[in-house]
Amino acid sequence: MKPGGTYKQLDPLEDRGVQPTRFPPKGTDTPSPSLSSRSVLLSAILLALFVLIFFLFIDLRLSSALRVGAGGDAGGDAGSCGDACRIVLVESIPEGMTFSEGSVPNPSTFSTWKNLLGTVTRSLDIASFYWTMTNEDTRTHEPSAVQGEQILEELLQLSQRGITVRIAVSSPSAKSPLNDLQALEQSGAAVRTVDMPRLTGGVLHTKFWLVDGTHLYVGSANMDWRSLTQVKELGAAVYNCSCLAKDLGKIFEAYWALGIPGASIPVPWPANYSTTFNMETPLELKLNDTDAAVYFSSSPPALCATGRTQDLGALLNVIDAAEDFVDIAVMSYLPTTEFSHPQRFWPAIDNRLRKAVFERRVKVRLLVGCWRHSRATMFPFLKSLAAVADNRTRYSVEVRLFMVPTSAAQAQIPYARVNHNKYMVTEKAAYIGTSNWSGDYFMRTAGSALVVNQTVSQTGANTSTIREQLQAVFERDWSSQYSADIEDAEQWESLCGSR
Ligand SMILES: *[C@@H]1O[C@H](CO)[C@@H](O)[C@H](O)[C@H]1NC(C)=O
Ligand SMILES: *[C@@H]1O[C@H](CO)[C@@H](O)[C@H](O)[C@H]1NC(C)=O
Ligand SMILES: *[C@@H]1O[C@H](CO)[C@@H](O)[C@H](O)[C@H]1NC(C)=O
Ligand SMILES: *[C@@H]1O[C@H](CO)[C@@H](O)[C@H](O)[C@H]1NC(C)=O
Ligand SMILES: *[C@@H]1O[C@H](CO)[C@@H](O)[C@H](O)[C@H]1NC(C)=O
Ligand SMILES: *[C@@H]1O[C@H](CO)[C@@H](O)[C@H](O)[C@H]1NC(C)=O
Ligand SMILES: *[C@@H]1O[C@H](CO)[C@@H](O)[C@H](O)[C@H]1NC(C)=O
Repeated sequence: MKPGGTYKQLDPLEDRGVQPTRFPPKGTDTPSPSLSSRSVLLSAILLALFVLIFFLFIDLRLSSALRVGAGGDAGGDAGSCGDACRIVLVESIPEGMTFSEGSVPNPSTFSTWKNLLGTVTRSLDIASFYWTMTNEDTRTHEPSAVQGEQILEELLQLSQRGITVRIAVSSPSAKSPLNDLQALEQSGAAVRTVDMPRLTGGVLHTKFWLVDGTHLYVGSANMDWRSLTQVKELGAAVYNCSCLAKDLGKIFEAYWALGIPGASIPVPWPANYSTTFNMETPLELKLNDTDAAVYFSSSPPALCATGRTQDLGALLNVIDAAEDFVDIAVMSYLPTTEFSHPQRFWPAIDNRLRKAVFERRVKVRLLVGCWRHSRATMFPFLKSLAAVADNRTRYSVEVRLFMVPTSAAQAQIPYARVNHNKYMVTEKAAYIGTSNWSGDYFMRTAGSALVVNQTVSQTGANTSTIREQLQAVFERDWSSQYSADIEDAEQWESLCGSR
């Protein structure tokens, strides 16, 4: 055990913070029932119907006019989007990590968040797990906290500029610092804590930003200064894409509704939370001028309104659709549950990977984060998966561990220096998620993923698709000095998974 033990109380990445002490509920959020007269209601409904029919009519005329005019798919019909959406792959590379020359750096999480803060004019919604944006929060004195502190500083300015700031956060465990959330609330932001422990026995683990209903960030980065400079993170930013932002907004609204004290999960969710963009009928749009089919998945199942693909289903579908390769980079991978007791064997993902290897001869590569807090049980399961590969049968499964290099000083930073990525890339699709790959995350924990199906390639052009860029990130990490084959990694196991 490393001296970090004294910091253990912070448990920022620990998902077992199941003792909820609710962040001071201001009680201001409870909706007050007001309308009483039935006739008012009735005429309101009639009016709404009229307006709806009117707009439907206008919309029909508009889209047919557009079709005649532009002779194409300029939007209108459900399942497509006329926005000129831009997508950018975003990473945090921990200080002190270097990759071989030729690897193109992606924009940093920090610069992306700064960008989004510079763009916002009306509204910012953030779904978050916990908040530790300053040295004070983590009781550290790290110069590298300055970026997080700067982001928080800018967030605190927004409300007074007339921007509506809403923050949904998992209910803090007894030890979680509350400074940032209190400061945000004092600045005028609306903060709601989502009591996932009570609602589903999990946590709110999702991390995304929604800006002006038009731009978004989704990825592995927590609202934590370490996620900007000390933890390896991967996400995506999508700009000028109200179709996608609107759909992610429905997931945010679900968290927001559950953040009312005493809220329960509606069964079923009201119709306005439902979506038509899912695994079966993804949103077809152009990302950087290239055709793509996109949707957001969500977990746990109880938080999925009608039409929403469950996160596990999305992930398994991407694996099942692969015919050539499946590359996975994830912080932790366990064919078990981790936090529910008794722990259960949970082979949902493991089975599908073995099936892909055995039945379709798909080449599977798994790059798993390895750090001080890795679970000892993870390693034998990983070796078992790797053992399917055999020189005589030519099955192809490779497992490598990825370790973020750590100086003695960096080792003092609690819960840092780890590959926190959670993504998968195949020859067809990119899956950028927020969940560790073990049972609890899909059954109890709120998470979300962006799934981009982009079979076309842009060979010849100077740009590449997001899928191709994600593949390049994977190749860079896989062949870097920071990864080692699970069979050669014996000496590492003393460094990762010491418990
Ligand atoms: C993911 O898994 C690791 C290892 O099991 C665990 O320590 C961590 O709390 C989990 N949560 C996050 C935030 O990734
Ligand atoms: C989004 O659209 C605006 C207005 O058309 C444009 O100025 C801006 O550059 C676009 N953003 C991106 C990232 O393409
Ligand atoms: C659905 O409607 C309710 C009531 O008007 C509202 O509070 C909620 O935010 C809406 N949800 C979405 C996803 O728009
Ligand atoms: C992606 O789209 C192609 C063609 O539309 C389809 O055949 C394939 O199944 C889709 N893949 C995934 C992972 O959804
Ligand atoms: C496969 O063959 C190579 C070279 O002959 C050898 O180094 C390797 O250990 C073999 N792998 C397995 C899994 O048997
Ligand atoms: C691609 O970009 C590089 C650097 O920006 C430029 O030098 C090169 O001419 C471009 N190639 C094509 C085919 O556009
Ligand atoms: C999409 O366009 C933006 C700028 O408009 C660029 O920064 C980004 O790298 C592009 N993404 C892809 C996947 O090519």
